[in-house]
Amino acid sequence: MARTGNGTAATAEKIIQGNCIEAMNALPANSVDLIFADPPYNLQLGGDLTRPDQSKVDAVTDEWDKFESFESYDRFTREWLAAARRVLKPTGAIWVIGSDHNIVRVGGSLQDLGYWIMNDVVWRKSNPMPNFRGTRFTNAHETLIWAVRDADQKKYTFNYDAMKALNETLENIAGKEIGDIALRNVAPVAASINPSLPIGNFDEAQSGAIAKVDEFDFQHEMRKTRERVDELLDLGKIAAAESFMEEQRQVFVANGFNIRKLNQAYFAFNGTYADNAASSSPIADQLNRYRAAASNVGSFVKMIAGFSSYQKFMDELDELDK
Ligand SMILES: C[S@@+](CC[C@H](N)C(=O)[O-])C[C@H]1O[C@@H](n2cnc3c(N)ncnc32)[C@H](O)[C@@H]1O
Repeated sequence: MARTGNGTAATAEKIIQGNCIEAMNALPANSVDLIFADPPYNLQLGGDLTRPDQSKVDAVTDEWDKFESFESYDRFTREWLAAARRVLKPTGAIWVIGSDHNIVRVGGSLQDLGYWIMNDVVWRKSNPMPNFRGTRFTNAHETLIWAVRDADQKKYTFNYDAMKALNETLENIAGKEIGDIALRNVAPVAASINPSLPIGNFDEAQSGAIAKVDEFDFQHEMRKTRERVDELLDLGKIAAAESFMEEQRQVFVANGFNIRKLNQAYFAFNGTYADNAASSSPIADQLNRYRAAASNVGSFVKMIAGFSSYQKFMDELDELDK
């Protein structure tokens, strides 16, 4: 399957069925943004695998997974990886998934062909094949290798901030709620001293200012500060943004929030957590709307974990409002 970046009618949004090497060789060079491959694993199964009740495990025994030797598997791997590399744009990337049977060989071939490995990512299986024989560890993961076309390529796609903001903010929202439930069960008296205080997940600033929480609204002041700083930076007024941040820092300190430095790095770090006042991301509000729609914190986390793209996350959010 291939989708060209320039979206020509001939190849965009089209599924091509056939031998992948021939199909990729028919595509223009430097035309593909992303390749995801789940190639044959060369499982080399030597006989039937049976469960303790003697029923047969339905394993992969197809012809396409049979190779005479490691050499012939490597030849096949190098052929399709070379065809894939030719069609990738210089900024393109490849993901290949495999198991202990083949992934190290695939990794070696990727490196030999000039790809640059960025990460190996583990898919941990919650329902792996049971370990019937007990003669080795349970095989409960597969590995994905993420590689870019060339070693010196810096302009590949990696939506770090978007992924981190969703993960960390979900963790913060659910974590606070779970911490709250635990505290109310374990120490109900402490939890009732000031129910308006955020329970759990105190950051440095909040913990220094519990006594002043009624007089000074840290969340509100920090959010206002972030918004004003963003406006000034958008206008290119860097010096003004910096002196405003220093003025505001002094306001926070005067109110008991001991912030040593308030600068763009502070916002870059704390702003990742979208439920933090230093954030300008809308994702906390969006997550809170999902939380309101879920019956409990567990189903909220499962619901969010089920989204495979930001688009789906946003589409379902629209549905909630209908
Ligand atoms: C590990 S399976 C991937 C299964 C796939 N992820 C799915 O869910 O259907 C490997 C697949 O590669 C296909 N395959 C093997 N050799 C191929 C080739 N030369 N060109 C295209 N597909 C090939 C097999 O038919 C098989 O479906």
